[in-house]
Amino acid sequence: MEKVYLDNAATTPLDEAVFEEMKPYMLEFYGNPSSIHTHGRQVRAAIEKARKKVADLLNTSPSEIFFTSGGTEADNTALRCTVEEYGVKNIITTGLEHHAVLHTAEMLAKRGDVALHLLDVDAQGNIDINQIDELLKNDPNTLVSLMHANNEIGTVNDIDAIANLCHEHGATFHTDTVQTMGHFKHDLQELKANFIVGSAHKFHGPKGVGFLYVNHEKKIHPFIHGGAQERNMRGGTENVYGIIGLAKALELAYSHMDEHRSHIEGVKQYMIDQLKANIDGVEFNGTSADLNNSLYTVLNVSLPPSEDNDMLLFNLDINGISASGGSACSSGSNVGSHVLTALGSDPMRGAVRFSFSRFNTKEQVDYVISKLNEILAIGV
Ligand SMILES: Cc1ncc(COP(=O)(O)O)c(C=O)c1O
Repeated sequence: MEKVYLDNAATTPLDEAVFEEMKPYMLEFYGNPSSIHTHGRQVRAAIEKARKKVADLLNTSPSEIFFTSGGTEADNTALRCTVEEYGVKNIITTGLEHHAVLHTAEMLAKRGDVALHLLDVDAQGNIDINQIDELLKNDPNTLVSLMHANNEIGTVNDIDAIANLCHEHGATFHTDTVQTMGHFKHDLQELKANFIVGSAHKFHGPKGVGFLYVNHEKKIHPFIHGGAQERNMRGGTENVYGIIGLAKALELAYSHMDEHRSHIEGVKQYMIDQLKANIDGVEFNGTSADLNNSLYTVLNVSLPPSEDNDMLLFNLDINGISASGGSACSSGSNVGSHVLTALGSDPMRGAVRFSFSRFNTKEQVDYVISKLNEILAIGV
């Protein structure tokens, strides 16, 4: 049986070249980077080289890059520490954010630190920037946290425009760029964001390592206390080989971005065409089927209503196909996609998120379509 991995928004396979770069820091250079002897200093130098590489790629200064355990920690740090450090009284976000942002914002609201404002979204997950403007006119002492691209439905926010608006009002802007890091170019001289984040395992790097960019205008306290690492911003011995791998993976992503993008877009468009040709009543969630206006790695497929849709992912899995998804939550149940629920999607429609990497092919799409045809014809 063929094995097809189409869950790259959840995580991507490690690039072998990245692993080769990491290996010496697992076996040979094992010193603690905080130690002042030679073993330690060698490793410290490698971390600082990795930081400079990441900063150069994002067109910013190494002093603004802080390594973390991943996207979740970076998002938590940005939200919690901004509220605590600056006494921010409002958070503006949407119900479509990853839980790393949404649950953190909800916790801060529940604690009584902030008022939480969830923006309206249309059926495809688009926001209206004028609503942010109105809210900021009322009270600019606000943290706006809006993701660059949605991990489930691929809808993209215009983060340049939102950043400029926040800047005009003197509000703080954090954007969860986990899904676009390594897939779109971020230029931090251009983008007026206070915080952006990255997670290596989303761009063929290792799991358990990411970073937070903190613009030099913001000074926040550490989220994790206990050591002077990361210039007193994040206690804990560094994930050295993770950091080395992250920098290498980002370098590879940047150096081949156009080529990878056009390959992935070709596979995605082929899948859209094949789905339309084979499945009556197929639709697409968010903007994911609009190649000019979505995260090109994500396609969220909405299948006609059926009792059998609950078993869809399971049936794909037993045919060797890994994808993810989940329909909107039906009333009274909170299992399912909080994103599709916030969009008001029909819980009876099956939702499958296929997400692509440069390793996927049109032949794999043919296999998936043939299996989907079988599954939908037979039912369960
Ligand atoms: C948009 C978004 N933010 C944050 C995260 C969390 O990243 P990590 O897995 O590195 O904690 C993810 C991972 O799925 C994500 O898709």
